[in-house]
Parts: sequence; structure tokens; C-alpha cells
Amino acid sequence: METVVSGIRSTGCLHLGNYFGAVGNFLKMQDDKDYHCYFFIADLHSLTTHPTPDDFKRNTNEVLIDYLACGMDPEKVVLYAQSDVPEIAQLYLLLNMIAYKGELEKVASFKDKIRKHDENVNAGLLTYPVLMAADILIHKATKVPVGKDQVQHLEMTRNFSNRFNHLYKNDFFPECFPFTFSGNPIAVPGLDGTGKMGKSDGNGIYLRDEPEVIRKKVMKAVTDSGPTQPNSKMPDSIKNIFTLLKLVSQEATVAHFEVAYNNCNIRYGDLKKQLAEDIILFTNPMREKIKSIIYDKTYQEKVLKMGAEKARESASKTLNGVREIVGMNKI
Ligand code: TYM
Repeated sequence: METVVSGIRSTGCLHLGNYFGAVGNFLKMQDDKDYHCYFFIADLHSLTTHPTPDDFKRNTNEVLIDYLACGMDPEKVVLYAQSDVPEIAQLYLLLNMIAYKGELEKVASFKDKIRKHDENVNAGLLTYPVLMAADILIHKATKVPVGKDQVQHLEMTRNFSNRFNHLYKNDFFPECFPFTFSGNPIAVPGLDGTGKMGKSDGNGIYLRDEPEVIRKKVMKAVTDSGPTQPNSKMPDSIKNIFTLLKLVSQEATVAHFEVAYNNCNIRYGDLKKQLAEDIILFTNPMREKIKSIIYDKTYQEKVLKMGAEKARESASKTLNGVREIVGMNKI
């Protein structure tokens, strides 16, 4: 059995990028007997940019509800909040001793964050990949289902685990790799023509958005005046609409609009309407489930408590091993 770890930073509700980049794979893995899965809410990671107690609580709760609404089953996977497993923070501290400032400064997400938040370049942002490595290594995971934007972070995790093994004990930590059932980690685009869908990019279509909101967001998608030559290359903005269509619509629907595009008689209004309705259809069961659990605090607490207990059991085993090989069992 392979150990699987992944998480989502609690900085807001889940959007289609999170779903198709990550959660869709979590759901398939939870039903596969070959995998032992740890899925968590990366609430400590959220503190790098969202430090207030109100944000912390609300955002953690939103990710928990969205996870459950997507169909994550706390009986099949270990589902927990990162901050409920203090062993992760201890391993993070130890890994920080073998992580170099130079390599951390080169990470794309760090450069991006300091560009966007130059008023708050805290050490947590710099060491973000170290905390991520601790999340993964604390359970000695080998597979990490993530979207494309996390691939570089996993490379860092492998660097840290190899360095640790080299310094202390060969083969103590296994190597971990990104995983998706489709073969390669994906990047779900936004519909504003700017690139990937992201919480901080203001272009998210959220799983819990009401149908009217989804329609409005999709109808605002950037398009152009349409193809004038048969079979012409799609500009990025149109390709993005088709990418989303392929994720939520039937194959016949996609084929219909592709033929229309290639024949230069596509009507973007119809394409967007269809996309909006298919997103609504796809997310309907999640909205229903959210309504049924959102006020059930007893259930939510039970899930987090059960998850924390199981996660700590595995985490403390790893941490005890680490303490021993680092020399902390002094006598
Ligand atoms: P986060 O919270 O930014 O995103 C959570 C997951 O969603 C994926 N994702 C996307 N995939 C495809 N297209 C998109 N537009 C898109 N937007 C987001 C991300 O790739 C990710 O898989 N650092 C992580 C959280 C984390 C973590 C970990 C993940 C903390 N510790 C340990 C794996 C293992 C993050 O900020 O993801």
C-alpha cells in the first residue's frame, strides 16, 4: 500500500481549479485499496498571508465543508487540520536546518508572493516549501496528488528528504512524486484570459457559487470576434473556455462546439451558456451537500477530532524516528 498526502491552503472556498487539479484525484484515491490517504487543511500555511483569527477559523471551516461536500469520506481517509498535528511543526523546524536561503529564494511561488505582497515578506513565505515538505514527510508519503503549480514544491521536498537521508540515515524518508490519474498534473485556466484559476487571482468559479453567480462569471469570459479561417488555431482565451468545457461537459457537447469553431460558425454566447449550465449541473450535488452539513458543528468537530487522532498516530511515529537519528534521545 502506498501512502498519499495532499492538502489545500485555507484561504477561501474551493474552486474548479482545486477540484480538477487536486480533489478529483483525492476522491478516486480514497476508493482505491492501494492507497492509504492523508488529506488535510493547510491552515498553518494560510497564516503567511491571512493572519487574523477570524480568517483562520472561517477559512479552515470552509475548506473542511467543501472537502466533505465533494465526497471526501473521513472513514476512508485521514482528514485533518494541519494545526491539530503539532508533530508537523516540529519536523518543519528540523527541516529548516537543512534548507538553504538561496534555494528557497529561487522558488517561483515565493518570487510571485513577494511581488504581490511586498509589504509582508515574512519568513513563513520563504520557508513555505519546508512546511510543505514536513506535511508530506511526516507520513513518509510517496504520492502527492496536486496541480501543476505545486510540482516545484515537491521537487524541493525531494531535495530536503534526500539531504536529510544523506546526513542522518539512508532511506529514512522515501522520495515523493506528484500524482494524477491522467498522467500529468494540470493547470485549470481562469476565464479572464490571464492564466490559471486561483483564489488570489480573483477569477475563481467556486464550487459553492450559486447558479446565477456561475452564469454571470462565465458570461464575462474573455472571447474575440471569432475565427475567420476554417480550422484556425485557437487563441488562449478560447482555448481556456474549451479546457473547462472538456472538464465538465459531455464529449458530444465538446465535439459539437469544436466542429462549429473549425467551421467558423461558432457562437460564443451559446458556448458560454452551455459551459455555465454544465458547471452548474456538475456542482449541484456539492451545493446540496454543503446545505446539509454547514450548520452541523457537532459533525464537523467529530471529523476533525478523529482525523487529528489518526494523523498524530502516524506523525508521532515518524517524529520519534527523526528525534532518535538526530540524536535527541540523549541517554
Ligand atoms: P493550494 O491551496 O494553492 O491549491 C490546492 C490544490 O489545488 C491545486 N490547484 C490547481 N490545480 C489546477 N489548476 C488550478 N488552477 C489550480 N489551483 C489550485 C493545487 O495545485 C493544489 O494541489 N501548498 C499547497 C498546499 C499544501 C500541500 C501540502 C499540497 C500544503 N502542504 C503538502 C500537497 C502536499 C497550496 O497552496 O495549494
